[in-house]
Amino acid sequence: MSSFDETFDPTTPADARIYDYIIGGKDHYGPDRGVAEGLQEGPWGDDPERRPAVENRRFLRRAVRFLLDAGIRQFVDIGCGLPTRTNVHDLAHEADPAARVVYVDHDHVVVNHYRALLSSSSTATVIKADARRPDEILDRLRAAPLVDLQRPLGVLMVGLLHLIADEDEPAEAVARFRDAVVPGSYLALSHLTGEGQDPVHVAQFVEMFQSAREPMVMRPRARIRTFFDGLDLVEPGMVDAPDWRPNRAYPPPSGWLVAGVARKN
Ligand SMILES: C[S@@+](CC[C@H](N)C(=O)[O-])C[C@H]1O[C@@H](n2cnc3c(N)ncnc32)[C@H](O)[C@@H]1O
Repeated sequence: MSSFDETFDPTTPADARIYDYIIGGKDHYGPDRGVAEGLQEGPWGDDPERRPAVENRRFLRRAVRFLLDAGIRQFVDIGCGLPTRTNVHDLAHEADPAARVVYVDHDHVVVNHYRALLSSSSTATVIKADARRPDEILDRLRAAPLVDLQRPLGVLMVGLLHLIADEDEPAEAVARFRDAVVPGSYLALSHLTGEGQDPVHVAQFVEMFQSAREPMVMRPRARIRTFFDGLDLVEPGMVDAPDWRPNRAYPPPSGWLVAGVARKN
């Protein structure tokens, strides 16, 4: 497991800032924009609505609303990314001002932004931790119980696992959370896939992340589905992200991002 650079380094593209640029945020630097602009000219065409990053953020919002409707009132958002216009705590507090949210990211720029944003909040917080060390995250959740692991929890791993190499055992990270939460808890997950795409485009996409701090690991759909093992996928199962319970008509999916929500029964 390579360690994540602890210092602030604007010269190395970071996924949090690349993603922030693509979804219209303001916290990015030249090298991040270089990667992001390459991705915007990607094989999904010019329509901004078909960018996987845009599909991803929309899925996140729909999934959180679904979990709120299902009665979930506490969330752990792992690989939360930089705060943007509508964040998980905004959605949760719209539904219930007492809902609890713990954000987790290994990027200290992300963590600093959330610290500033949540400095006066008693219902939402952020911790700097690495998803590749799930037990550390679980220990910290237990030590500072803003969320109660004895009650149903919404675990969000949205746009995260394709940034974790096979050797760092992403399935094990998911399984540790699955085993730690009580029945009635949910996992929402999205993941990039190159399956069915032109291999040249896939190679170009992965290549663009060569200079970035996190790897880009495209996985086939069947492999991504195994991250839900031991859980029951809710309808419509794991699908192209825009097809997951759309709340309006979307353009055809890019086909590069799959997503699903599953319940521990
Ligand atoms: C694409 S962003 C996703 C943001 C948000 N979850 C969303 O879906 O809109 C991925 C985030 O995961 C974070 N990340 C990547 N690898 C991580 C790891 N091993 N542990 C914790 N966070 C990680 C990055 O820093 C980045 O902020």
